[in-house]
Amino acid sequence: MKKSELPSATRVNRRSLLCGVALVTLGLAANVIPDSAQAATGIKVLKSGKLQVTIAANKALAKVGGAVILQMQDGSELGIVRTAPGIKGFAALSLTCPHNGATVMEQGNQWLCPAHGSLFSLSGALIQGPARQALSKYPLAATAKYLIIG
Ligand code: FES
Repeated sequence: MKKSELPSATRVNRRSLLCGVALVTLGLAANVIPDSAQAATGIKVLKSGKLQVTIAANKALAKVGGAVILQMQDGSELGIVRTAPGIKGFAALSLTCPHNGATVMEQGNQWLCPAHGSLFSLSGALIQGPARQALSKYPLAATAKYLIIG
């Protein structure tokens, strides 16, 4: 299978995830975060290389439909979304549009690609093309206090 044929989720690597945390820590993300979403806080890199996000530090995640964003060093963004009540109601999404790589923006309770108009649900499902697939998801596990991403 050629790299271009891999599902986009497999192209999201841990290195880009960790680079994003460094930028958030330095406070460089604030200039590029869309108005409708907040920068994620309460982030820690675990020895395993995964990210630990403190849920209570991100008030937007307290209610269904809330989202926060991590800025990645390569310019891409990762969105953490509260999709449902309970600890299983979270998703971590690549906000890179699978159509042609533009960054999708939160608009109401959906993600809109400003390049060609693809539309995704808040949990990343494809609603309207020209994209042909959903937003990629990062592996995510949740406890009552933390989200573990990666
Ligand atoms: S890059 Fe998103 S719709 Fe084309």
